Parts: sequence; structure tokens; C-alpha cells
Amino acid sequence: MSKTLIVFYSNTGHTGRIAEAIAALGNWPTAEIRELTSRRGAWENLRCVIESSLKVRPRIEFDATVLSSFDLIIIGTPAGVGRIASPVRSFLSRHVHSLQRVAFFCTRGSKKAGTVFDQLSDASGKTPVSTMAI
Ligand SMILES: Cc1cc2nc3c(=O)[nH]c(=O)nc-3n(C[C@H](O)[C@H](O)[C@H](O)COP(=O)(O)O)c2cc1C
Repeated sequence: MSKTLIVFYSNTGHTGRIAEAIAALGNWPTAEIRELTSRRGAWENLRCVIESSLKVRPRIEFDATVLSSFDLIIIGTPAGVGRIASPVRSFLSRHVHSLQRVAFFCTRGSKKAGTVFDQLSDASGKTPVSTMAI
């Protein structure tokens, strides 16, 4: 049977709530990509914009020991200035070799998901089995 893990980054909580809702569908576990510092506030929003635009990969906290025991990883990110969240970029750059099959979801404020899923595919080197934009 397929073993599924939901991996997500969330700044203001939307992506986290969707991650928990997806997880409840199959009683799957979740794993959050965390940062050492908060991204709340106007200056931190500016940092999001700069980091996303420059494709910065900030330091993250993530326990990767379990990754290889799952054959499907569902990865969730908020859209920020049309790009994947930079902590998700960090996650993918470090752990891409531990990923088998992937699916992607994103939460966003605008009607179009833009190229977020293409960016996730490029960063992971994988074609997703499914995508969902909310
Ligand atoms: C700095 C900043 C940039 C954003 N840029 C976009 C964007 O380019 N496109 C979009 O659809 N939503 C954009 N949003 C909205 C977020 O993607 C949306 O609120 C998302 O659900 C946040 O997820 P979170 O609560 O998990 O952090 C932006 C939000 C912020 C704060």
C-alpha cells in the first residue's frame, strides 16, 4: 500500500490548514518545514518578495529522517510574488534525492496559480502525479 506524507510550509496558516485537511482524507502524517525566524509583518513580507525574486534558499528546520520511507510526498506551498515559498525551495534543494513520487498543492490570493507547479517540478526534477491550487 502507498505510504503518503504531506510536507508543507505555511507563513500565515492557510497552507497548513489545507495540509491538515488533505492529511485527514487518508489519515496521513504531516511534516512542517519551519524557519528559525518569523515572516510576519511588513518588513518580513518584503523579505519574502526579495527572497522569492532572487531564489534565495533560507535556513530551515526539517526532520528528513522519515522521508525515504514514504513513496508519495505531497508538497504544499503558498504562492509569493508568483513563486514558490523560499523555505520550500530550500527543502527541495536539500532533500530531492529522498523523494519518490510527488504531488503538489498551493494556496494563493490571486485566481491563477501561475507557474508555481512548474517551479516545483523544476526544483524537484519530478513530474507530479497530481496538483491542486486553492
Ligand atoms: C508577500 C506576499 C506575496 C504574495 N504573492 C502572491 C502571489 O504572487 N500570487 C498569489 O496568488 N498570492 C500571493 N500572496 C497570497 C498568499 O499566497 C496566500 O495568502 C497564501 O494562502 C498564504 O499562505 P500561508 O497562509 O500558508 O502562508 C502573497 C502574500 C504575501 C504576504
